[in-house]
Amino acid sequence: MTNNQKERANFGSKIGVILATAGSAVGLGNVWRFPYMTGENGGAVFIIIYIACVLLLGIPCMVSEFIIGRHGQSNSPRSYRLLANGTLWGLVGYMGLLTGFLIMGYYVVVSGWCLQYVWASLTGNMMGDPDYFNTYYTNFVSHPFKPILWVVVILGMTHLIIEHGIRNGIERASKVMMPVLFILLLIIVVAACMLPHADKGIEFLFKPDFTKFNGSVFLGAMGQSFYSLSIGMGALVTYASYFSKSTNLTKSAVQIVSIDSMVAILAGLMIFPAAFSVGISPDSGPSLIFITLPNVFAQAFAAFPVTGYIVSLLFFVLLSVAALTSLMSLHEVCTAFFQEDMHTSRRGAAIVVTTLTAIIGTFCSLSFGAASEELTFFGRSLFGWFDFLTGQILLPLGGFLTCLFIGWFVPHKVVRDEFTNWGELSGRFFHLFIFLIRYICPFAILCIFLHEMGVI
Ligand code: PHE
Repeated sequence: MTNNQKERANFGSKIGVILATAGSAVGLGNVWRFPYMTGENGGAVFIIIYIACVLLLGIPCMVSEFIIGRHGQSNSPRSYRLLANGTLWGLVGYMGLLTGFLIMGYYVVVSGWCLQYVWASLTGNMMGDPDYFNTYYTNFVSHPFKPILWVVVILGMTHLIIEHGIRNGIERASKVMMPVLFILLLIIVVAACMLPHADKGIEFLFKPDFTKFNGSVFLGAMGQSFYSLSIGMGALVTYASYFSKSTNLTKSAVQIVSIDSMVAILAGLMIFPAAFSVGISPDSGPSLIFITLPNVFAQAFAAFPVTGYIVSLLFFVLLSVAALTSLMSLHEVCTAFFQEDMHTSRRGAAIVVTTLTAIIGTFCSLSFGAASEELTFFGRSLFGWFDFLTGQILLPLGGFLTCLFIGWFVPHKVVRDEFTNWGELSGRFFHLFIFLIRYICPFAILCIFLHEMGVI
């Protein structure tokens, strides 16, 4: 063990590295965003392109962030600064920090809703007709303090884990939560696929209809792959700074990406068979999870009352667990920065981050309901602004700059050393990696960006 590793906290095991980082990647993006994007974009075709994007763009971008973090052995802004050598590239790390903080601001709100739905399922309130679920959702999100209460609860849980540090907090929690998540997912998939007419949903997911292919499906899939893999805001840089010198960066990225994609596809296998079985359209946009899905479960399992209750409960527990492991990584990006750059204790840093997040989370939540008029700017709520600014501008921009940074600015030797663990690994894919990160990834991200801005 080098001195560096002794001083700085790190993950204690390979499986810890994989589960914690996969925990960051697997989140609401997989269970909430992926299914509705698939529904809106034609099913199997979207999935095929998504997988291609993940392999060709996701893996190289993830490896680049790992290189920056493990080389820097520090929080994300400092890791960028170290390689930037006093140039403006150092600012990319700060941009990531801001992005992470803003994502956290609205992510806690939706995570809080998940907890409310766990509670509602538990107390038997997730039964009724479509109108009931619609009203339930609207009343809840516009309630003056209930959603805020849940923001505080999920943030409190995140805080407790973060305060316990890297090994005892993040790694330990991930080792418990990720297997739980898998088991819940498999149980619901089996239940959903056993419903009558489930095969239509399975067909929708796996039988491509190439007439559905168009440019926006392609760019949507690319954007989704970045969001889902937590690329572009320093979460991967921060976690990689806790990797050991013997962690194989490429292999880990492949494993993490595989887990993330598998969870997304399983989430589809949980939702579409159930939706098709009761004839509900799967392309109902972001409200899919909180309005359509409870209704789908209630109807699909109407003949088996206890099963319906259990499936709905397990589903929202699953969603909350997925959200929590992602929140941990967002929190850690900011906590590590305050701890190291402001020279505070970990506890103090975590308290600052939690308090600030609670404040912006409260405003985001209020912008939905109680104070929607006051907190709407240029026709978009505060929540909407955070989502738009991060997902559509800051994340692609962060990813884009990181590719250029690694591909064109950072000395090849540093990149190669990190890639091959100082010559210990063969580095067979190094040239392919450099080619993708120099030319293909920046070009592709630029296209996503221009598409999202409505330019192409
Ligand atoms: N990848 C997470 C998800 O799929 C979202 C996220 C983005 C988390 C960026 C951390 C950083 O939900």
